[in-house]
Amino acid sequence: AHAPTQIPPGSRTSKLPALVFDIDGVLIQGGKVLPEARRALAVVNGDNPRNQYIPHLYLTNGGGVTEEAKAAELAAKFGVPVRADQTVLSHTPMQDLAMQFRDKWVLAVGAEGMNGKRVLERYGFTKIVTPAEIHAWNPTIYPFGPTPQAGMVPTDIPDVTNIDFAAILVLHDSRDWGTDLQIMVDVLRSPRGCLGDVPGAQSFAEQAKHGRRVMGPDALDQIKTQHVPIYFSNPDFLWANAFPMPRFGQGALRTSLKAIWKELVSQDLVYQSYGKPEYLTYAYAFRRLHKEILRHPELPASLTNNDNEYFEVYAVGDNPHADILGANRHGWHSLLVRTGVYQAGTPAVTPTAVVDHVESAVQLVWDRHF
Ligand code: G3P
Ligand code: MG
Repeated sequence: AHAPTQIPPGSRTSKLPALVFDIDGVLIQGGKVLPEARRALAVVNGDNPRNQYIPHLYLTNGGGVTEEAKAAELAAKFGVPVRADQTVLSHTPMQDLAMQFRDKWVLAVGAEGMNGKRVLERYGFTKIVTPAEIHAWNPTIYPFGPTPQAGMVPTDIPDVTNIDFAAILVLHDSRDWGTDLQIMVDVLRSPRGCLGDVPGAQSFAEQAKHGRRVMGPDALDQIKTQHVPIYFSNPDFLWANAFPMPRFGQGALRTSLKAIWKELVSQDLVYQSYGKPEYLTYAYAFRRLHKEILRHPELPASLTNNDNEYFEVYAVGDNPHADILGANRHGWHSLLVRTGVYQAGTPAVTPTAVVDHVESAVQLVWDRHF
């Protein structure tokens, strides 16, 4: 149903090309910059026989920092200019959720320290709490978690027990699966989104006044409904770092949460996913790509938001299940490199073409269009 596009050998076109680069496994390998990446990015930024800038975006399932910080990091690593609006991270399309949750409390899961909070603030969210802050407020919520650090008890929120959570946003890989899983479940099942606020339980205020009543495991039988929506930014189950075997990604946390939720309430977790190969991410990236292309002076003024007759999109990626599947589904050319997840053999998802590395991908595009 989602066959890759075909590029007959030696075929040429006068349309404008646009490139979408994956980062890990294409530009960076095991934390190190690939030399082919520096050369490829120099070419698309105009270091070519025609001094031609080729419109391009960076599209990664990584994140945990702001787009500005990521753009600055990429520019420093590759020695080319990179704008924040060229940088689409796993959580970048979640900006669109800010309209809905701007003035409501959200739980921000994943990312280092307060980075997740900073990312959401940048998107316009105003009421954000992290599991680490909740854990610091009351370590008995997950007694096996790391000892809360000084200064982690939130000061800018009224009362952790009285927060009516409207959504859970998983922004990046969890730094503390146990605490994060427990608190996500607590928020999902709380009738008003308030922690520990379950039918038949003493409120925290009553507990403080009259001493506490501990609920037995059967109390959980009363809570069978998911009260709060949850959004994941990256579906990758596995990813490759410097360790010889692939490591669990955010997708594995989602698998755990689904299994725990199912066992607890006998219902399927309802969730929404962003990140490659999800539709929402490609729709968002395509909007960005249009803006990037409209910066190009050679284009006809008649180019509208729905008109892709004047350009062809090439996605360069290393992960067949993410980059190649997503590009194929969206009608983009998919170029699979051998420098990351995929190395040799029959790819799990067939791309438009297999190339050795990102520089060959850019060469293929150049030869076809210029
Ligand atoms: O799974 C997280 C990340 O390492 C994947 O990054 O750039 O290959 O999409 P990327
Ligand atoms: Mg990759």
